[in-house]
Amino acid sequence: MLKILVLVSGGGTNLQAILDAVDDGTVTNAEVAAVISNNKNAYALTRARDHGVDAQCISPKDFPDRETFNEKFLEAVDAIAPDIIVLAGFLVVIPAEMIARYRNRIINIHPSLIPAFCGTGYYGLKVHEAALARGVKVVGATVHFVDEGTDTGPIILQKAVEVQEGDTPEILQRRVMEQAEWKILPRAIDLIANGRVAVEENKVKIKEEEQR
Ligand code: GAR
Repeated sequence: MLKILVLVSGGGTNLQAILDAVDDGTVTNAEVAAVISNNKNAYALTRARDHGVDAQCISPKDFPDRETFNEKFLEAVDAIAPDIIVLAGFLVVIPAEMIARYRNRIINIHPSLIPAFCGTGYYGLKVHEAALARGVKVVGATVHFVDEGTDTGPIILQKAVEVQEGDTPEILQRRVMEQAEWKILPRAIDLIANGRVAVEENKVKIKEEEQR
């Protein structure tokens, strides 16, 4: 059974998609063991607690400097001893030590088709604002492993979504969530939980499902 730690900062709709997928059997061999938010007001914390999942807040604001925060953050994560860490709208930079310790065991959902509209400064609504400003016709979402760069790790799954006439950043964000994020994030977790994801030379290989 894959033990999942989900890191969140905001509304937690991706967390909800994971919880629902575990409940309805779309994701097998996995359980959400704990949730950590850097924001004590994140609605994601309420979603976790309503679901009976252990949830805590660890904020950089509560520590004198980033180094101390990183230490405490890593301690809290190690105490949970997760098999994988899922960044579901988590907006804090992951400490290098954590990336090294959990190499190819941290995954992130990003609301674009990487390598478009990703990297420093591209998060949340800003991604959709940039896509509309550029006039692209297709957007989407990506699940990838986290490495030392920003949105540079091996790509696990991507899904495209069409831009429509009259889209606002908010409308587009919602469509990308509904049609892509809430599907590919649970799917990626299911693939990992069932031993079907391998990383070779910085690329992800999805193994065939074994015949039962
Ligand atoms: C999601 O759209 C997620 O892809 C994005 O933040 C949103 C969180 O929503 N993440 C990033 O932009 C990371 N670079 P949620 O709290 O409702 O899941």
